[in-house]
Amino acid sequence: MEKTIAQIEKEALKELEAAPDSESIKAISARYLGRKGAVTRYLRNISTLSLELRPEAGEKANKTKKTLDALFKKALNKLESAHIETDDRIDVSLPGRAVRQGSLHPITQITQQICDIFIRLGFDVAEGPEVETDYYNFEALNIPKNHPARDMQDTFYISNNIVLRTHTSPTQPRIMEKQKPPVRIIAPGKVYRCDSDLTHTPMFHQVEGLLVDKNVSFGDLKGVLTTFVHQMFDKETGLRFRPSFFPFTEPSAEVDIRCVICKGDGCRVCSKTGWLEVLGAGMVHPAVFENVGYDTTRYTGFAFGMGVERIAMLKYGIDDIRKYFENDLRFLRQF
Ligand code: PHE
Repeated sequence: MEKTIAQIEKEALKELEAAPDSESIKAISARYLGRKGAVTRYLRNISTLSLELRPEAGEKANKTKKTLDALFKKALNKLESAHIETDDRIDVSLPGRAVRQGSLHPITQITQQICDIFIRLGFDVAEGPEVETDYYNFEALNIPKNHPARDMQDTFYISNNIVLRTHTSPTQPRIMEKQKPPVRIIAPGKVYRCDSDLTHTPMFHQVEGLLVDKNVSFGDLKGVLTTFVHQMFDKETGLRFRPSFFPFTEPSAEVDIRCVICKGDGCRVCSKTGWLEVLGAGMVHPAVFENVGYDTTRYTGFAFGMGVERIAMLKYGIDDIRKYFENDLRFLRQF
């Protein structure tokens, strides 16, 4: 044997001291303690020594092996924790990463815009439950038992008497039961119908409006809705009231606006008619007043209900209602 174990240990310690990084420490460790390392080779060569020298040499070599192993590990650990503290991957001179700001969902934005217009006209905002009783969703609104809206095809039934509301109109009797006239409220919220295609989703949003007072006329309804349409779209947008039917209003009307896409020339969006249906409305039916205990000889009122998605589609020029609910960020980030 050329070198004593003490010499080998001394050299190893000297190299370790000069090691600049963990890579070189690992290399030194391999050079001494690896399979062909100096200490390993020394241990293997002990068998060539004379019998009486072997025990002491073995003991010393094993001790060196243990000492070096512990020192290498310690040095590596130290470097690693220092590395975490001064992580060279963090470049403090780089510009900061901007926090991405989210935005309100387009339907929320349009709902707020609709509400803001009516708030300025003196309406209060009210809300009602989405899981509704048969009574408020149908009965109190003068919708008879055999009305098609009650059909299993349209209405999501929770049980015999509980439904997912099919419109926001049940907020009308709910409010009137609690409040004496004058009443001036709008009620935004989600509604549910068993329906799904290009222009229908099983969940959509409506804004209900209700105004009850002495001497309220159809003219007031026209005035309020005209003001609304002019503020929501623009002052040039024409309106059209078509006679219609709702069990809870009489007379009833469906309100169309001049197509905001083609301005009335006729296009795909308005099916060449130049008009777009945006809401249902009418004078509150006396039967509804009777259900809530209002004096039908003293009070009259109007009500309306509009689809928020419809208005948002027209406002933003979107042709597929389902886009609102697919949660595609490429779509949502545009708002
Ligand atoms: N609730 C009706 C619908 O969903 C809309 C409406 C509301 C009509 C109020 C008249 C008065 O179609």
